[in-house]
Amino acid sequence: MKKFQVAIDGPAGAGKSTVARRLADKLGAVYVDTGAMYRAIAWRVLQDGIELMNEKKISSLAEALTITLDTDGVYVDGLKLTDEIRSNQVSLLASDIAKIAGVRKALVKKQQLISQSQAVVMDGRDIGTHVLPHADVKIFLTASIEARAQRRYQELRAKGESTQLEVIHKEIADRDENDRKRTFAPLRQAEDALFVETTSLTIEEVTEMIFQLCRNKLGGEE
Ligand code: CDP
Ligand code: CDP
Repeated sequence: MKKFQVAIDGPAGAGKSTVARRLADKLGAVYVDTGAMYRAIAWRVLQDGIELMNEKKISSLAEALTITLDTDGVYVDGLKLTDEIRSNQVSLLASDIAKIAGVRKALVKKQQLISQSQAVVMDGRDIGTHVLPHADVKIFLTASIEARAQRRYQELRAKGESTQLEVIHKEIADRDENDRKRTFAPLRQAEDALFVETTSLTIEEVTEMIFQLCRNKLGGEE
């Protein structure tokens, strides 16, 4: 199989992981959830009680940890993490540690290594701009902040978590700002990425649209 690369970036709640996972299935590629890697480091930082200002230590941790992405979760040094990396606390800390250059360097290296040996659909914030600058297909997925907050809210409610829409809205807005304003590899659309606005689109519609685009671009080599 040709080792093609599909890069999907965008803000929180845009539908990146849902669409990327489905697309990877349809294309016969591996789905790489880079956000789960930043979340996994954040989770370990909390577990180990490391101060956020201790950037050197957090960077060393990001370098040293073995992170494996699987369909059922992320494994950190062999320990499986699922719901524990999806809390609001971990989301916000992930966004803070994602500002640290040493952390980004370590994780980008791991992400590029994964894509060397297999076809990938990778989602995150800096995939089209930094991780896979020569990706065959680049998508910038977005939706209004209201729609994104509503989606995340419904997702959490469906899992039985009690939360408030305003809290989710603020958490997402804060994280977006953090991600857009940071110095190293901020969230932005790559010049050659296709902008896809999904506020009034279903997951199926978005997946189908990007799937057709991939088929055209990859020329049936998938
Ligand atoms: O990965 P990202 O944060 O961009 O978003 P996600 O986790 O894939 O999607 C957040 C939630 O929005 C999920 O519950 C999706 O099912 C939902 N969603 C939706 O309702 N409509 C879309 N067009 C895309 C996602
Ligand atoms: O699912 P959601 O879009 O809410 O977040 P995520 O993709 O799991 O990413 C969590 C956090 O990790 C983001 O808010 C970013 O700060 C950071 N991240 C990043 O900086 N670069 C990436 N390639 C992926 C995630």
